[in-house]
Amino acid sequence: MKSVLFSRFFILLPWILIVIIMLDVDTRRPASSLTPRPYFSPYVAGRGGARLPLRRGGPNSAPGRAAEKRNESGPPPQPEPQLPTIYAITPTYSRPVQKAELTRLANTFRQVAQLHWILVEDAAARSELVSRFLARAGLPSTHLHVPTPRRYKRPGLPRATEQRNAGLAWLRQRHQHQRAQPGVLFFADDDNTYSLELFQEMRTTRKVSVWPVGLVGGRRYERPLVENGKVVGWYTGWRADRPFAIDMAGFAVSLQVILSNPKAIFKRHGSLPGMQESDFLKQITTVEELEPKANNCTKVLVWHTRTEKVNLANEPKHHLDTVRIEV
Ligand code: UGA
Ligand code: MN
Repeated sequence: MKSVLFSRFFILLPWILIVIIMLDVDTRRPASSLTPRPYFSPYVAGRGGARLPLRRGGPNSAPGRAAEKRNESGPPPQPEPQLPTIYAITPTYSRPVQKAELTRLANTFRQVAQLHWILVEDAAARSELVSRFLARAGLPSTHLHVPTPRRYKRPGLPRATEQRNAGLAWLRQRHQHQRAQPGVLFFADDDNTYSLELFQEMRTTRKVSVWPVGLVGGRRYERPLVENGKVVGWYTGWRADRPFAIDMAGFAVSLQVILSNPKAIFKRHGSLPGMQESDFLKQITTVEELEPKANNCTKVLVWHTRTEKVNLANEPKHHLDTVRIEV
C-alpha cells in the first residue's frame, strides 16, 4: 500500500512542479508599461489648449503614478514630482513627403510622456491635411501657421525663421500670466530622426543643454567638446568659428530661460543659413553655461536625416484616378 502511494506521489510531483513554475512565471510578467498607447488620443480634443496625458507609460515615465498600484501596507503614496513638459516646435511646409514626415515624427512623440507638440505650418492658413493629421495624432498639440515672406524663400537663405518665432511667441503668451511650470523647449525639424533616449536627456535641462547630432555638417556627426563637465569647443566640419557651432537639433532650452529673455528670437536680418542657432543661443546663454548631455556629448541620439526628393515623373498632369486620395 505504502509503495503504491509513493509511486503515485512521484508521478504527480513533476506535474505539480510544472504548474507552480508556470504560475510563478505568469505573475512575474513585466507590467504593461511598454504597451503602445492607443492610436486615438486620450486627450481632450480642441486647438491650442494644454492637454495633459491621462496616463504615462514607456521608459521615460517618472516613478510615481505606479504608486496607485502600490501595496496597501507600503508607505503612503507621495505626491508625484511634476515632470517638466517638453515643448517641441516643428516648422513644416507642404510637399509630397510632408504627411510621411509628420507620421514618423508623431510615432516618436507618442512614446514620450508629457510632450506638447507645437506644429507651425509655413503657410497662409492651416491646411486641411495637417489639421486632420493632428486631430488623429493622439498628442497634446498646438497648430499654428505663418507664411515665410516670398523674398525669403530662396536657396541660400535660412529656413523656418518665422515659424520658430511663432512657436516662441505662443509659448511666451501662454505662460504670460502664470508662474512658469517646469518646461523644456526644443526645435524638432520634421525630417530628423529622434531616439527616445534624447527626451530623457533633455527633460533635465536647467538652462540650456547640448548634445551631439549625427549626419550633419558634412560629417558623420558634430558634437560639443567637453572637459570636466563643461563645453570647451566644438567638433565640427563647418565654420568652427561659430560661437555655438551646433545644429538646431543639438540643444534644448528651459521654459524659464525663454520667458526671462522675452526678446530672444530668430533674426532674418544678417542671418545666414547655419548661423541661426548660434545667433539665437548668443541671446540667451554663454558657452560656459551649457549643460552637456548624452554622456558628456559622446552619444548620438538624434540624426539630421534628410528625405530624398520624391520622383513624381509619372504623375499625370490631370487627375485620372476614380478616387481622390490624400497622400
Ligand atoms: C538645416 C538645419 O538643421 C535647420 O534647422 C535649419 O532651419 C536649416 O538648415 C536652414 O537652412 O535654415 P535642413 O535639413 O537643411 O536643415 O533644412 P530643412 O529640413 O529643409 O528645413 C528645416 C525645417 O524647416 C523643417 O522642419 C522644414 O519642414 C521647415 N521648412 C523648410 C519650412 O517650414 N519651410 C520651408 O520653406 C523649408
Ligand atoms: Mn532637415
